[in-house]
Order: sequence, then structure tokens, then C-alpha cells
Amino acid sequence: MDYSAKTIIMHVDPAAPEPDVITKAAEYIRAGKLVAFPTETVYGLGANALDPEAVERVYRAKRRPANDPLITHIAQSTDLYRLADHIPAWVEPLAQAFWPGPLTLVLQRAAHVPSNLAAGLSTIAVRMPIHPVARALIEASKTPIAAPSANTFTRPSATTAAHVLEDLYGRVDVVIDGGPTTLGLESTVLDLTQDPPVVLRPGGVVIEDLRRLIPEVRAVSQYLGDADEASPSPGQLLRHYAPRARLMLYEGPAAAVRSAISDTAARYIANGRRVGILTVNEDAAHYTQLGARIIALGEQHDHAAIGRVLFGALRALDGQGVDVILAPLLDSEGLGAAIRDRLLRAAEGKVFHVGQPTSHEA
Ligand code: TXA
Ligand code: MG
Repeated sequence: MDYSAKTIIMHVDPAAPEPDVITKAAEYIRAGKLVAFPTETVYGLGANALDPEAVERVYRAKRRPANDPLITHIAQSTDLYRLADHIPAWVEPLAQAFWPGPLTLVLQRAAHVPSNLAAGLSTIAVRMPIHPVARALIEASKTPIAAPSANTFTRPSATTAAHVLEDLYGRVDVVIDGGPTTLGLESTVLDLTQDPPVVLRPGGVVIEDLRRLIPEVRAVSQYLGDADEASPSPGQLLRHYAPRARLMLYEGPAAAVRSAISDTAARYIANGRRVGILTVNEDAAHYTQLGARIIALGEQHDHAAIGRVLFGALRALDGQGVDVILAPLLDSEGLGAAIRDRLLRAAEGKVFHVGQPTSHEA
């Protein structure tokens, strides 16, 4: 059963949120209601993390399966000690280096913390965001805030208040509009209950930076190609962050990728289908004659720019009613790993490899 609410929208200055607005929103959190708010990564759908009924409402509003755990957001790193037990030595240097910021730590859950927060697991995922609105809301609420991304289950995450309303209008009590988020990609999820620690989801803190603190950190992903073992994070379902249109990804030498995308677009368009193309700025000119909807995400090596607009671009093409979306799969350095992961999930892991010898020729 869905959660239903009379959604109200509150506007705030993202850099210096007005205290009266934050106080009002915090009253909703204290009353067990749902408040969507901006973080530096994506918008979160927030509820009092220590109120199991409020947590339950988050799952219902998002139509999220009960086996997909939520992230708990705190305003002070010391709040961690009230939520988690058996805190490993890694936490202090990690918090020093990356908090507040887009790093989520998975730890042993303290016994008094509601188990539905963690979908019944014995662990808890915690992060301290840096966004002034998120921090002010948590502080004013005087409780940690559980918040998954503020999209409906499997849809691309919301990076603006308009995206939140698109998915959740009538199913969230308050939407705090603090403008577009800065990173546009979710936090990195690092599991500290395993030794050595494991990155369950690449995100805003890049693995190269984690390695400087924890040289032995591993990445587990069905998609990154360097998975050491199969232990996917709960809730990391294959189809995720997905547009309604079918997403087709291409990988290979740049020229081969461009011609595969052009040829495929031309074929679909000849069959009366509407085609969207996601491209790097450098390639946009190749596609202008096709009659496809084209979104240039940013310059090829500017992962920060591409990451910021990626989810919005998937939503925009959906809004234009395209049947298929064609996109290149970019390299996985730095933030590229998170971009690649989100694209692969949205495409259910399927990639067209072009311009390379097939294995039997090798
Ligand atoms: O940037 C972000 O992390 C955003 C903002 C709002 O903070 N939140 C977010 O939440 O992306 P969500 O629920 O969409 O993704 C959280 C993911 C889950 O899908 C799950 O894979 C992982 O974090 N996770 C949460 N709790 C976990 C746990 N106890 N053990 C392992 N993985 C966990
Ligand atoms: Mg999510």
C-alpha cells in the first residue's frame, strides 16, 4: 500500500537555508512524516531513522522492496557511536578524510536501532552529508535521518526538486527545494564489516582516494569488470536508475562507437521510432543530421560535469517520449567508475562491444 500525503514545497537558499523553513520541516520529521531534501549527491527521501513506522513509510512511498536497506544521515561524526557497534579502526581516518561528504560506511548496527532501517540486516549504513540544507535539517530534527534517494524504485535518482515531485508528488509530506544537487551521483558505499573493506557501490568519493588510506580496499561490482567475488550489496538490483526507454550502451574505439550509434539511430528512426542519444560534447556534431534527440553531457574527460547531469538527462529523454536511448560507455577512472556503474545498471548490464576482434579471431 502506498503512502499518501498532501505534498507541500518549501524553498530554501541552498548555501544558507532559512532557519524558520528548516524548523518547520524538522517538525514534520519529528512527527514521523516524510521530507525530501537536497544533499550534495542526490535528493533524499527523509524520515526519522529511530522511528520504525516513519521508516516503513519511506519504503511505501518509494515502492521499495523491504529487502533494500536505507542510508542513515547524521550531522556529527560522533552520532555514529549511537548507531553502530564494534566500530573498526578504519572509521576515524575515513571520517577525518571524507566526512562530511559522499561516503557511506556500512557497520554493525546497534541493538536499539530499528531493524527495518537496514531491511533486517545486522548492519547499518551511515553517512554525514556536507550539504548545508541536509545538515541543518538533521540538526533541527535532533535525530538521525534515514533517506534513500528520492525517486521511485528503479527510476533515475532525483537531482532537482522537480524530479522528486515527478516521482513522489502525493506520497511525500514536504519537498525542500534547494536547487540542483552538486555531484549528481550517489555516495560511495564502503562496507567496513568485511576485512579488507569493500566498495559496494562506486560514488562521489573515488576509489583512488580511498586507496590512499586503505591500500587493500576492494571493489565488488557485477559490472566494473574487476569483481573479486560475488557478494553484491543488498538492493543492488540489476535494473536500477533506469529510464523508461531502453538504454543501449556501446563500447570500443571512439570512431567505431560513433558509427554504431549513428547506424543504430538511423535504423530505429527509419522504423518510425523516437531515438535519444547521450553523447560527450566532442562527439555531438556527428549526430546532428539523424533526427534524434541529442543531449551533450559534458567534455569527455570532465567526469564531474557528466555526473552532475546524467540522471537529469535520462529523465529529460524519457520526458520527450523516446523509445530507445543510445550512449557510449566511458572510461572508469575517478568519478567515471560511478558513471559507468549507473549506466550499466540502467541498461541491465548489457553492452554492445564494437570495432574489436571477437574472441574466436583473437
Ligand atoms: O548519496 C546517497 O547515498 C543518497 C543520498 C540521499 O544520501 N542516498 C542513496 O540511498 O543513494 P539509496 O537508498 O538509494 O541507496 C543506498 C544503497 C542501497 O541500495 C544498498 O545497496 C546500500 O546503500 N546499503 C544501505 N544499507 C546497507 C547495508 N546495511 N549493507 C549493505 N549495503 C547497504
Ligand atoms: Mg537509490
